[in-house]
Amino acid sequence: MMSDLSEQHILLGISGGIAAYKTPILVRRLVEAGARVQVVMTANAHKFVTATSLQAVSGFPVRDNLWDPAAEASMGHIELARWADQILIAPASASVIARLANGDASDLLSTLCLASPAPISIAPAMNQQMFQHPAVQRNLATLRGDGCRIIGPDSGDQACGDQGPGRMTEPEDLVMALTQQQLATDATSNTPLHGRKVMVTTGPTREAIDPVRYISNHSSGLQGLAIAEAARRAGANVIVIAGPGVPEAHGDIQRVDITTAQQMHDEVHAHLANTDVFIGVAAVADYRPANAAAQKIKRHKQDEMQFTLVQNPDIIGSVAQTGRAKVVVGFAAETNDTLQNARDKRTRKGLDAIVVNDVSDHSIGFNNSDNAVTLIHQQGEVEFARQPKTAIAEKLVAQITDLFAASLVH
Ligand code: PMT
Repeated sequence: MMSDLSEQHILLGISGGIAAYKTPILVRRLVEAGARVQVVMTANAHKFVTATSLQAVSGFPVRDNLWDPAAEASMGHIELARWADQILIAPASASVIARLANGDASDLLSTLCLASPAPISIAPAMNQQMFQHPAVQRNLATLRGDGCRIIGPDSGDQACGDQGPGRMTEPEDLVMALTQQQLATDATSNTPLHGRKVMVTTGPTREAIDPVRYISNHSSGLQGLAIAEAARRAGANVIVIAGPGVPEAHGDIQRVDITTAQQMHDEVHAHLANTDVFIGVAAVADYRPANAAAQKIKRHKQDEMQFTLVQNPDIIGSVAQTGRAKVVVGFAAETNDTLQNARDKRTRKGLDAIVVNDVSDHSIGFNNSDNAVTLIHQQGEVEFARQPKTAIAEKLVAQITDLFAASLVH
């Protein structure tokens, strides 16, 4: 029996879906793991499971009405929202997901979610076609962006006869996911990055020449993603501004996709408020064609063609200039005089630190699983020999954490 959820107050929100029949077992497993569980049902949830069963297994009266004077007298809904250490919504129907994504407070469950500071985990469950509908995916992306954790769904046979994604994650796996989350939170709750906002840019940018051609580079985004992951594991709230082709990030990482350097600049500044640490790993195009052609450029008789390029904004330089992030770390992709060029770049852009890789070595850097870097900051330089980007990321985040901790005492 797991006991890692001991002392945890879990508010279980149940919405209308066939998977609700599994929730008495879910409550039982949560209680076995040490949690105290209070259940809130939506009106539709009553069609699939009884409040009597849920009250019996949780040991608490089940709540389902914002306007029930008797329930409000024993524990008002604001009190209930404060009681929760975490909120789990399982099953989460398309309808409850839409309400939460829109900040709608039309019933008790959605009101509690708005009124509670507790982290929210959502286990979607619905017909596979509904789950894959762009509107549902859009709402889930919004919730992810708001910091909610989406667990599942599983894929397989559905009660309606369909096959595909939309089955609620099994109760045992939901308890495991909450337990792992709790262990990770406990492990990082004393580290300097815990609860801090870290923004990472990663991947290439694309600058259009015409509707079908562009200027870009070989960045895969892997180094930046590995850093985002390491920062997340260190307890940070991480937002990634990702260029085209960057693989999926962990579900707990907020992600904003962009194509051009100008878009990256705009999204970075739109999300910069309260950023504690900014890490610019992206390979941003310094120049873009002055005028992208509206139509595909045709082959002409003349052998040569000329473009005028204009400068893109220096994104990291502009972040450093605002003084809003406590620590600003850049990367430098160099092919010659690597260390000296990087030292100059750090000073010129006003960065706290810069990480340089020699991209003339094709076994590291761009689009490889390995890297070899030197971190340069005001107090010194640290070299990390060739190793997987994930290992480099762990070590860099440890160093950046020290820089951040030092910035707090100055
Ligand atoms: O993505 P991968 O395949 O994993 O490869 C990783 C990497 C090689 C891309 C990465 O390790 C790296 O070196 N990233 C920086 C690449 C780069 O553009 O370097 P730069 O020296 O041109 O830029 C210096 C710094 O200024 C960088 O932090 C860059 O994000 C930033 N910059 C650059 C230009 C610009 N207009 N705005 C910026 O913010």
